[in-house]
Amino acid sequence: MDVYGLIGNPVEHSLSPPLHEAGYEALGIDARYVTFEPDADAAAAAVAGAADLGVAGLNVTVPFKRDVLDAVDAAPLAARIGAVNTVDFGPMRAGETDRPRGHNTDAAGVKRAFAHHDVALDGKEAVVVGAGGAGRAAAFALADAGTSVRVANRTAERAVSLAEAVPGASGGGLDDLGERVAGADVLVNATSVGMEAPEETPVPAEHLHGDLAVLDAVYAPIETRLLREAAAAGATTVDGAWMLLFQGVEAFEIWTGREAPVDAMNAALRAELE
Ligand code: ATR
Repeated sequence: MDVYGLIGNPVEHSLSPPLHEAGYEALGIDARYVTFEPDADAAAAAVAGAADLGVAGLNVTVPFKRDVLDAVDAAPLAARIGAVNTVDFGPMRAGETDRPRGHNTDAAGVKRAFAHHDVALDGKEAVVVGAGGAGRAAAFALADAGTSVRVANRTAERAVSLAEAVPGASGGGLDDLGERVAGADVLVNATSVGMEAPEETPVPAEHLHGDLAVLDAVYAPIETRLLREAAAAGATTVDGAWMLLFQGVEAFEIWTGREAPVDAMNAALRAELE
């Protein structure tokens, strides 16, 4: 039996165990997915210990996504983002490398969530609202897909500093958000606005329009006010569960080398969320 897991703090309410275990079950893979909460300074040591114990793969979540960089060989996009959410021990177990491989499937999750909804990204213009971890992954993912990115954030300096690291991106505050969204093809909410607060929205409805594709990283509730108002404006909407699903799907495929059973994993995730 292969053991996969998640390290983070807290991880008690993580949706990753049911998401991945639905995938193992659908493909008849003998594996389990478990959660671990290492001490604040122990993430890198936990990754090394997991390798010694024969763990097959680890997801990494808040607050450890940067901490584990030192314990892995990071794939190019993960290295550029400066955050790892998926550790693959496969190449190390096969004797091909001395260290586990680190990936950032949050970025892949953004790209694949749009692709699943037939939203083209190459040559498009995007506004990413938010400059925390989710905004960082989204900005790098979109730039990597050929999109020109504007990062807009309540604290303007955070957006400017993120944009400096992302090829072709610019950053600023929320003052001109309306004009920026009016001229954009893609909008990502990477703030926590709307989380457990159905009456809140990061972008007033008057700025939304029918040529937009809108991804809301918030998945609780699944249908946020932003997505409801975007749909009413005629926009294509992509809810946060798709982003969560596809970061897991990407990790599943890296670890198992098999095409993930997306429908089964999606059904399991949505059953947990609804
Ligand atoms: P995560 O890693 O999940 O992205 P985070 O680093 O705490 O979380 O970032 C949260 C994001 O939501 C930030 O961009 C934050 O803006 P600030 O950088 O100004 O703090 C944004 N955010 C949170 N509450 C907000 C609010 N009420 N209005 C606008 N932006 C908000």
